[in-house]
Amino acid sequence: MGATGVRILGIAGSLREGSFNGRLLTAASYELPRGLELHRWGGLSLVPPFDEDAEAGPEPAGVAELRRAIAEADGLLFATPEYNGSIPGQLKNALDWASRPYGAGVLTGKPAAVIGASNGVHGAAWAQDELRKVLKLAGAEVLDSTLPVGRVARQLDEDDRLLDHDLRRGLSSLLHGLRDRIRLGAFA
Ligand SMILES: Cc1cc2nc3c(=O)[nH]c(=O)nc-3n(C[C@H](O)[C@H](O)[C@H](O)COP(=O)(O)O)c2cc1C
Repeated sequence: MGATGVRILGIAGSLREGSFNGRLLTAASYELPRGLELHRWGGLSLVPPFDEDAEAGPEPAGVAELRRAIAEADGLLFATPEYNGSIPGQLKNALDWASRPYGAGVLTGKPAAVIGASNGVHGAAWAQDELRKVLKLAGAEVLDSTLPVGRVARQLDEDDRLLDHDLRRGLSSLLHGLRDRIRLGAFA
């Protein structure tokens, strides 16, 4: 935990400019509990395809940047789209890199929370379940609760604030849960 507060790294699983999931991270920035800072990480497209053979060679710059950003964060907040019922390949690929070396990667013991949005009614719920599973297997401390935001185009105002009171409350509650999980780890 830094001197200035608790540092959360926000990662959107979409590479798309104007991504709803990127906007959902902005919505999260309005709901942060006191003392939490949210820093967006946008290097997903610079992470090369994972190759087990390449692990023996020099660490690719995009991977070094990913690992550094995760290592320096007290906790992680992912906002994932759903692609064909799962998480986008670029997000999975980055997590595969971050999970290595097995048992000792930067995700080990890292508190993490997952939210997600889609324009369908289910709000990327499957993708959030899958992302939680992947993060857990990679050793992260993953919150049980998620935040599926369905029909997302109708849910965000022009400043990317969530319009729906229950969703705002759900997001706030999830962020409080993440803060509590980070504090638990800090005092363990
Ligand atoms: C390859 C692909 C697969 C998709 N599969 C699903 C899906 O399984 N379920 C769903 O609700 N939406 C699906 N969608 C729609 C995405 O939820 C929608 O494009 C969403 O806006 C993407 O998130 P973003 O705005 O953060 O980029 C898919 C979109 C793409 C491009």
